[in-house]
Amino acid sequence: MSADPSPECCQIDRRGFLLLTATAVVAAGCEAVHSGSNPAPGSARVVDAGPASGYANEGVYAQYRALGFFLVRRGSQFTALSSLCTHRHCKLDAEADHTFYCPCHGSTFDPTGKVTEGPAKRPLPVFATSTDARGHLLVTVTG
Ligand code: FES
Repeated sequence: MSADPSPECCQIDRRGFLLLTATAVVAAGCEAVHSGSNPAPGSARVVDAGPASGYANEGVYAQYRALGFFLVRRGSQFTALSSLCTHRHCKLDAEADHTFYCPCHGSTFDPTGKVTEGPAKRPLPVFATSTDARGHLLVTVTG
């Protein structure tokens, strides 16, 4: 008597395989959305941008672009501007002159987030910033 290499308990038919595959694809898609760079619409998340002392110079800090914002320092003030274009949500590029450029359709924004060239019509959203007890900058990114 030989052992059955594929016991009935573990066999799966074509329909079951397709169902499991579809479930895995949907789950992976959901994970990609939830772990992606932008919060779901209507949601908010707080990003710890590290010690404020780490931003010694005035200017635009783009290392959080993928997380949805640019950190801008003017004097001792910090502003967090959305890194998504208000036209169709493409990721913006920070320019050397502290303006922002959208590579998708060419919109531009000034250092405060105001539209300087369309097709975008709305300014960049400004996210709330605060400092915790350790002196870390916290940015509340909303979708
Ligand atoms: S998405 Fe930025 S200009 Fe269209």
